[in-house]
Amino acid sequence: MRGRLQQLLRRTKRNLAEFKELGGYSEIYKYSIEKNDEFWEKLARSRLLWEKDFTEVSDSSFKDGRISWFADGQLNVFDNCVTRHLADRGDQAALIYEKDEPGNEEIVTYAQLHSLVNRFANVLKSKGVKKGDRVAIYYPVSPLGVAAMLACAKIGAIHSVVFAGFSADALRQRIIDADCRVVICADGTYRGGRYINLKSVVDEAIENLDLVETVLVGTRNAEAKKLTTEKDVDLDLALAAAPENCLSEPMNAEDPLFLLYTSGSTGKPKGLVHSQAGYLLYAAVTTSAVFDCEPGDRFGCVADIGWITGHTYTVYGPLANGATSLLFESIPSYPDPGRYWATVDKHKLTQFYGAPTAYRSLLRHGDEFIEKYDRSSLKRIGSVGEPINTEAWEWLHHKVGSSKVPIADTWWQTETGGNMITPVPCDAGASFKPGSAQRPFYGIEPVLKNADGNTVQGNSVDGALCIAKPWPGIARTIHGDHERFRNVYLNVFDDVYTTGDGAHRDQDGEYTITGRMDDVINVSGHRLGTAEIEDCLTQLDFISEAAVIGIPEATKGEVPYAFVILKEGVEENSEHKLLANKHVAKVIAKFAVPKDTIIVSGLPKTRSGKIMRRILRKLASSEAKDFAQIAPELGDISTLAEPEVVEEIFLKKCQS
Ligand code: WTA
Repeated sequence: MRGRLQQLLRRTKRNLAEFKELGGYSEIYKYSIEKNDEFWEKLARSRLLWEKDFTEVSDSSFKDGRISWFADGQLNVFDNCVTRHLADRGDQAALIYEKDEPGNEEIVTYAQLHSLVNRFANVLKSKGVKKGDRVAIYYPVSPLGVAAMLACAKIGAIHSVVFAGFSADALRQRIIDADCRVVICADGTYRGGRYINLKSVVDEAIENLDLVETVLVGTRNAEAKKLTTEKDVDLDLALAAAPENCLSEPMNAEDPLFLLYTSGSTGKPKGLVHSQAGYLLYAAVTTSAVFDCEPGDRFGCVADIGWITGHTYTVYGPLANGATSLLFESIPSYPDPGRYWATVDKHKLTQFYGAPTAYRSLLRHGDEFIEKYDRSSLKRIGSVGEPINTEAWEWLHHKVGSSKVPIADTWWQTETGGNMITPVPCDAGASFKPGSAQRPFYGIEPVLKNADGNTVQGNSVDGALCIAKPWPGIARTIHGDHERFRNVYLNVFDDVYTTGDGAHRDQDGEYTITGRMDDVINVSGHRLGTAEIEDCLTQLDFISEAAVIGIPEATKGEVPYAFVILKEGVEENSEHKLLANKHVAKVIAKFAVPKDTIIVSGLPKTRSGKIMRRILRKLASSEAKDFAQIAPELGDISTLAEPEVVEEIFLKKCQS
């Protein structure tokens, strides 16, 4: 009895305090679905600080392509994340900057962050940045990178952070698409002891690009920092000279807060637009309920600010909750595979949130890298970006978490703004299923659709994972292309948001993500469209056609693998592969370079010209040495336009 009571108490504490009188997860979840507006209204008032109160909660219709929350309310995201904490926790660390070199950290208190962002906002204003303008940020995880985002939020400019691992071409494309007149970057960053020059990437990206008027350059390595063009402005000098006072812009709830580019199955990357109030509310509430994040906690999300996880769980979520957020510049293996746990120990982190690809790379090393550090401060360990395999889950829970720390496997997307399916409340009272994200977050109603667009009923079933009702954190549109937004997400099936992932609903009604159903792949947690890589390969003057697929890989999860056809009259030579790799690295990023590129004379296509990627995946991932061995697995290939190419592709792959 006593045990049960304790479990209940724990569970209540871990739930949203606003609804504790309702009971546990099931009761609160039921309420959140049945009284959806009431649920979010209560949270919007208790969790956010409003400049102007709202009267309308939601006016959304997936069918009409309209998503709107708290529309007539006004607030400022920076004031919600920083200013309001000054009275109670001005001297508390807001950011811990764990630099690449171990033992080399910087602490930024809330008061210091407030002052830094105010000055930064004045610098932006002095460069002509106004409410609604887009600003590109090519900055590694660092206090200035975070301050750049918050300074935009303060004055109502829309930030577009581009992951500082993307190439110059990719950065240029994003700057042009969002029409950014100002770019903010650092001279460089360190990763695993290696200096990476970022400023030179920016220089290349904006060469002959009149659109960009100003490049604000912060310092990571003063000696390497070079201001080369008349557009360059020394950010440190500008900040030192800028006044400390700056008024925050009251923003309409539905004004855009940021753009973040992500890959889809077709076309160029899309700039998803997130809102001010709805996004912030969803970030704040999920951080608190999934991770039990309380004011004063030390939240360790090791994601880069160039990805949505960095936006929501390194910047906005922890700060909105008055926590201290870790900014991790390094890599998991530097100087040795104990770096994560050394960081947990040193800063007494209360939450640790990372990606399966990193966890998988660490578990191959000895337990001594974990055991020599104290991890008892941890109350949650999170996983995000791709499915976590049972081995990695067990390792995290039993080894890293000493069988005490609950694991939050969190399924979500750039588009969703925050965690969508994850064990909630994620505490010792919940039952966990390794490898399964399990339960929808409050207010989130998953539905599974079959190929005919009908909703799949009951349990122990599979289908395309969709979400029935709008929630505050969902992206509102694709920058400059609302039709595309509607077509890709809202009009695939009637009246629901289509995620692009497949899912299994088990006998208990809980969800396991089965993977993408489209041509999007996930390389070390980095999302890529195979079509983007194909486009890039066919830009080369010797390639006429390309097909790229993802194949499983032990550490990275998936890797791209390419099949290309050379142009008429081009003789195959050993340079082709190298040139292709170089080009993909230049146009997209190094992580997009195919594991192998096989030159073939034809591709397996249906008679209507559709490439059968399923066959390519089988061929690429097969260990078979003899075609007869693999043939039975390929299914009926006689219906292909040129069935004979399949064996040829197999042989070419074996020789490669
Ligand atoms: C995949 C990252 C299984 C999924 C936040 C999704 C996952 C895509 C998980 C979004 C998980 C993310 N289990 N698969 N816990 N988390 N995914 O936009 O395919 O970079 O659609 O957002 O990653 O990737 P994105």
